[in-house]
Amino acid sequence: MTLLYTSDPERGRIWRAIFAAEASDIGFFDPSQPHDPATIRYLAAWAPSAELIASLPNLEILFSIGAGIDQFDMSALPPHVRVVRMIEPGIAAGMVEYVTLAVLSLHRNLIDYREAQKDARWAPIKLKPAGERRVGVMGLGNLGQAVLKALKPFGFPLSGWSRSPHDIEGVTCHAGETALHDFLATCDILICLLPLTDETRGILCRKTLSHLPSGAALINAGRGGHLVEQDLLSLLDDHHLSGAFLDVTEPEPLPADHPFWAHPRIVITPHVASMTRADSAARVLIANIRRYEAGEAMDGEVARNRGY
Ligand code: NAP
Ligand code: GLV
Repeated sequence: MTLLYTSDPERGRIWRAIFAAEASDIGFFDPSQPHDPATIRYLAAWAPSAELIASLPNLEILFSIGAGIDQFDMSALPPHVRVVRMIEPGIAAGMVEYVTLAVLSLHRNLIDYREAQKDARWAPIKLKPAGERRVGVMGLGNLGQAVLKALKPFGFPLSGWSRSPHDIEGVTCHAGETALHDFLATCDILICLLPLTDETRGILCRKTLSHLPSGAALINAGRGGHLVEQDLLSLLDDHHLSGAFLDVTEPEPLPADHPFWAHPRIVITPHVASMTRADSAARVLIANIRRYEAGEAMDGEVARNRGY
């Protein structure tokens, strides 16, 4: 039973110590250590190269270091190799903090006050009660549901949209493409926490964002590929949208001459909404390898044909 780890070295040191202490029967290698590629059954990586995949003839599972798996080149991965995304409490905790920060900033007009401060302008805006600010989440998975749970105590009317129907207490749930426009029409703040797939690429475009109420704002913490950049810029410039928090862009890093950087209504963060926490992630990985070895379902296994 051997795992190859090919990501951040600092996290690797923590994982190695946890594997040694809690799962010493699982061999833990990184590429700097001599190892026989034929012994590697599990690979833990962020974006492994096609060459690396091809060099591992007995690979059974590719574990993502993060929640997303869109960074994998699936065409390089033999069809029998199983793919597992990371579901660990550190990722959810980070996302809850980021989205709460962004929702409260938008709700309390922080973008306007940032602009006013530049001009030394004292310009109070009448407070809108949380009960009158509708917040909607695209993607009701691990992260979307964690975010909705955290937003509930503020009193925002909450809604969500997903591929299959969900029933979440205190959240108006919509499902499927036919329900998308009705969902969007009820979102003063729209949060994207979808995975990037063939179906969701470019979903934040003029056609969909035009269904948001006038003056709505966007938070994209999914992937840069969800957003059609030019459409966002023109909807902001037409004042149909009032602001955007963007944690993800395409490409990353965002080029220095990109118009998003200087736009007065856009807040950019460098893909830091959440980060995989080393200690909890190592234990999640060990538990999943144990489940697999016992013939049980793994937590976060991806349906490869669905893309998430
Ligand atoms: P997840 O548990 O797999 O949930 C995905 C959700 O999206 C599910 O509710 C799913 O619907 C819905 N969905 C997928 N395709 C859809 C479609 N075509 N139409 C409507 N709904 C669709 O994923 P997660 O763990 O919550 O993570 C979500 C994403 O967040 C990741 O894939 C990644 O891109 C992003 N992320 C970003 C950061 C960051 O730092 N910015 C960090 C971590 C993750 P069903 O429930 O019906 O299946
Ligand atoms: C980060 O973006 C992740 O997918 O975990």
